[in-house]
Amino acid sequence: MAAESYSTHECDVLVIGAGGAGMRAAIAAAEAGCSTIVVTKSLLGKAHTVMAEGGIAAGLGNLDSDDGWEVHFADTMLGGQLVNNWRMVELYAHEVIDRVYELERWGGLFDRTDEGLIMQRAFGAHSWRRLAHVGDRTGLELIRTCQDKLVHTAGTECYMEYTLTRLLKDGDRVVGAMGYNRNDGRFVVIKAGATVLASGGWGRMYRCTSNSWEGTGDGAAMAYGAGADLLDMEFVQFHPTGMVWPPGARGILVTEAVRGEGGLLFNSDHERFMLGYDPVKKELSSRDVVARSIYKEVQAGRGSPHGGAFLDITERGADYIMKKLPSMYEQFHALASVDITREPMEVGPTIHYTMGGIRVDAETAATTVPGLYAAGESAGGLHGANRLGGNSLGDILVFGRRAGVAAAEFARSGGADRQVNEREVEEEQRMLLAPLGPSSRAGGNPYLIHEALQAAMQDDAGIGRSRESLERALVGIAELRELSAKMRVNGSRVLNPGWHTCRDVDFMLTVSEAIVRSAIRREESRGSQWRFDHPEQDAEQGKVNYVSRRNGDVMTIEAVPLKPMPDALVKLLARSRFYDPEKLPKGHLQPASMATATAVAATEAG
Ligand code: FUM
Repeated sequence: MAAESYSTHECDVLVIGAGGAGMRAAIAAAEAGCSTIVVTKSLLGKAHTVMAEGGIAAGLGNLDSDDGWEVHFADTMLGGQLVNNWRMVELYAHEVIDRVYELERWGGLFDRTDEGLIMQRAFGAHSWRRLAHVGDRTGLELIRTCQDKLVHTAGTECYMEYTLTRLLKDGDRVVGAMGYNRNDGRFVVIKAGATVLASGGWGRMYRCTSNSWEGTGDGAAMAYGAGADLLDMEFVQFHPTGMVWPPGARGILVTEAVRGEGGLLFNSDHERFMLGYDPVKKELSSRDVVARSIYKEVQAGRGSPHGGAFLDITERGADYIMKKLPSMYEQFHALASVDITREPMEVGPTIHYTMGGIRVDAETAATTVPGLYAAGESAGGLHGANRLGGNSLGDILVFGRRAGVAAAEFARSGGADRQVNEREVEEEQRMLLAPLGPSSRAGGNPYLIHEALQAAMQDDAGIGRSRESLERALVGIAELRELSAKMRVNGSRVLNPGWHTCRDVDFMLTVSEAIVRSAIRREESRGSQWRFDHPEQDAEQGKVNYVSRRNGDVMTIEAVPLKPMPDALVKLLARSRFYDPEKLPKGHLQPASMATATAVAATEAG
């Protein structure tokens, strides 16, 4: 018998998370005839998706007719340093084109060319102007459009301000989830034929992040708890440009669209330093490179007054800036009293995105646990070691839809039997209630533990890491884990953010451990993983992904070989304008494949 009563709800497909991936999954599942419940910690329309401002990357070729899915495939693989799941990239580059036009049909607004086509802009490491956008508010528009579609799709319900904390299993299969209502703290169990995790990323365990308060890694931690594999957790993206000043605004995103629209980066000596770090792509190099370059300039004593770089778009003139970057104008005006039409912005790296995530099948978004699917930022594989800007908004549409379709099929074919194990419910309730228990538990303030975790991750598992710093982080995480067993909060379950933070802390500790353990195993620098003690790429490690797996109470990290890329796709690599046989990421491509790609590049050039 459960410790406390709970309300029970039932559906064919449960979707956890109401950002772009969650909503797109729910629409697909409902359109397939399934009753669908979407659960969000926040309010519908307030997801972190809005923080992808600059656009949706899709090879529409509206401005540059040489663009197409093939070049998009090549750019994404090279940007990810070839450890991406190439099949996901192939599906993505193909399907994102349809998803953009679908969004347009659903009423999504886009900026337009003179001919009335969807406008596209340049972004880092994309060969062509590729990002379909509306000013610097594309994520918001995507959310608005999907929300409108969702609420008008029969068979969908949305539960707002609920936190789900545990996936429930019947044998090997996930049969729903449980958690609580954030307002009154009452427990809830949702039985489901299939469950889609679309709960986003986990920037909140870092001190400086563009992520909103929801980004605590609930989905990855719950999936891990249920026995799913986590993939490539070491790859955490620092977006090069977050606000650095004033302190209250630190970390807030400054969209890459500023550089896409011509913004230039300068150091305190007024040198355009990206010319030295990447003379070809310059400010529009990939995010890992630009973030590291800013970091290096600051370390060399050439930073801006508050520890960043200067980003200057003034050349474009006020009218253009107000049209293409209205949110940036407002953000700097309101938060920093800076007029970006007349002065440069101060910017620096901020945790923005997690390339790693729940391991999924490319076609179906199925995890390694039956009945459980994952899409969007909570899933891993598509982006490899570094995500290109604009590929997240496309990702959530393509794989959100795929997850919804596959979950619906699973629910219809085998999901009728949804037995909930009362012992699991009771165990989770006990865990949730513990911090409200006797004061003899006192010892762990959840806010202080969260703060200490942020310090450990930012300082020791941040933009640059070494074995020494990562092992220090691991010790810190273990100590905080012990402390967290004694977390105590005052008050009741009604509207108690301290109580909510307790479970968030558990999730963040699990996910942080996976990040740190994988980062220790990957003894090389690749994409966002910059190891001071292993500054080069290592060919052997370029042949594997690292998988974090639960083994009782122990987390193990396993090297899983990448599947060889078919020759037809290898040939496409040469379509990228940034293909350089001398600088190919080491590892994945066998000598014969490299020869193929090089031959194609020679033919194209000649
Ligand atoms: O800079 C940006 O607008 C972010 C886009 C993205 O993360 O895809």
